[in-house]
Amino acid sequence: MAGRIPEQLIQDIIAANDIVALVSQYVPLKRSGISYVGLCPFHKEKTPSFHVTADRQLYYCFGCGTGGNIVDFVKNIEHLDFIEAVRFLAERAGIQIDSLAFSAEDKKQYERKQRFLEMNKVAARFFRDKLFSPEGKGAQEYIQKRKLTGETVKAYGMGFAPDEWDSLVKHLLQNGYARDEIVQVGLATFTKTGKVIDRFRGRLMFPIIDVRGNVIGFGGRIMGEGNVKYLNSPETPVFNKGQNLFSLQLAKKSNELILVEGYMDVISLYQAGVQNAVASLGTALTAEQARLAAKFAEKITICYDTDGAGIKAALRAIEIFDGIDVKLRILSLPEGKDPDEFIKANGAAKFTELLQNADTPAGFQIRLLRKKFNLKDQAQKIEYVEACTKVISKVKSSVEREVLREKLANETGIRGSAIENEVEKNRGKAKKREEWNIRPPKPASMQMQKSKTGDKIISVCLKDKRVFKLYKDTLMEIIEDPVHREILNILEETDDAAQILTRFSDEDVPKAAAALNMPVQYENNEKAITELIEALKKEAHDATVKAAIESGDLALLNTLLMKKDGNE
Ligand code: UTP
Ligand code: MN
Repeated sequence: MAGRIPEQLIQDIIAANDIVALVSQYVPLKRSGISYVGLCPFHKEKTPSFHVTADRQLYYCFGCGTGGNIVDFVKNIEHLDFIEAVRFLAERAGIQIDSLAFSAEDKKQYERKQRFLEMNKVAARFFRDKLFSPEGKGAQEYIQKRKLTGETVKAYGMGFAPDEWDSLVKHLLQNGYARDEIVQVGLATFTKTGKVIDRFRGRLMFPIIDVRGNVIGFGGRIMGEGNVKYLNSPETPVFNKGQNLFSLQLAKKSNELILVEGYMDVISLYQAGVQNAVASLGTALTAEQARLAAKFAEKITICYDTDGAGIKAALRAIEIFDGIDVKLRILSLPEGKDPDEFIKANGAAKFTELLQNADTPAGFQIRLLRKKFNLKDQAQKIEYVEACTKVISKVKSSVEREVLREKLANETGIRGSAIENEVEKNRGKAKKREEWNIRPPKPASMQMQKSKTGDKIISVCLKDKRVFKLYKDTLMEIIEDPVHREILNILEETDDAAQILTRFSDEDVPKAAAALNMPVQYENNEKAITELIEALKKEAHDATVKAAIESGDLALLNTLLMKKDGNE
């Protein structure tokens, strides 16, 4: 989207705001050398790794890898989209941006999105009114059967889609919306004969609301048994299932979240007073949802159904959360009960008690292993202990490792020291593997991490135009990283780091920012770049050798090693 906003306007707005002053409103910053440093507002940390550079007007966190320019910062911290962030900054700087300042295409997109959100709001109101009309009698009965109170119905803005072909379509047409739009926002579909009919018919409706309070889509439940229990809005310009969580707008007040499977689980917990549950939206948990949840919470407890599918989904979720800085817990309810049924049967106090004693990911994995083995059988017991030590050895906290080892020793009667040995052995192996990954063996003088070399090269080019011009062709021959290559191309036009960043998609911005933000200080840039080029070549060679070793490709390995001998 960035490319379509007039470049000049962005530049003016960026220039009118100072990133250090802006960031300081959210986190205290301290000056440190050429940059300002503070605790990252995007992940939980105790030692500051969040850097802001005044001269380049960029931020970057070495802890979580997010970074970008001032527009990116506003987008991320205020949860705004690009245009909204630009408006926010313009307002802050007292710049008048009449809507004409945006390109026609941008303006059209933006207005279309606003119109879709409006339409969803009109639909939500329509469904709600129907729920409280005589037509909604059946739905009201269903609500009672599910033991939901009027207050809950109100908090979730629930409604009823009449069991007719086109009652909503008619209503929206009356309100000035066109057939095409109604279909595009996912509220209706075209039939084969070209008629437009309501997507949701005869269903209890749950509006899906994002953290900014927009109605972005709907889930609709049939009342009773039948096929397609929950029907959801399709992906639309305003609804991305993988990027939103049901009820986060209510749950975000808490800094702990509970992740459940279903709409009804969330709603039931809410009614019982547990008002910090969220659910994914009819799809498996995505990495984006995990990051979104972690933005709002320090602790996240997964509480999926305790059936085969739920357990599988929980194990997958543990993987998804790996590397995301959040305290993760897994709560296993008694078999056959989902959170909705559990809390209705046992009450909030019981649920909260289980919540407080939820397993760590490793604890959960060990609990699952325990079910697979019969400890009375000697061979199975050994297998069980070995499997558990593998899990324990991956735990980062030494305290937790100690606790789990102790438990395992008590449970199996195997000496704690024997278990400890096994765990440490595994850790030793893992560590070796890790070292090998990061740092292929090479002469000490050449030791440099792969990604850092690319970042350093970019930073030298950014600093020294002459060196960049002299070496660009050589660099384009050896640099493979697409983000780095793109930066080199853009450097032909501008060496303004903030402007360069506006050319990258959200997902590439952190990487680009890392390269543009690399603090480098060389006495002789030309000498530095020739050394960096050599280092990069060597790294590429080492990586190929490593890949050949790992894949067991001895023929390739031979060729590579021969080439190396020839070179040196
Ligand atoms: P469940 O089948 O576990 O339903 O689906 P539930 O949450 O227990 O609902 P009730 O209690 O029967 O009313 C969990 C979630 O999976 C998605 C929905 O988001 C649902 O809340 N789902 C399920 C669908 O999107 N479509 C379906 O047909 C079924
Ligand atoms: Mn249920």
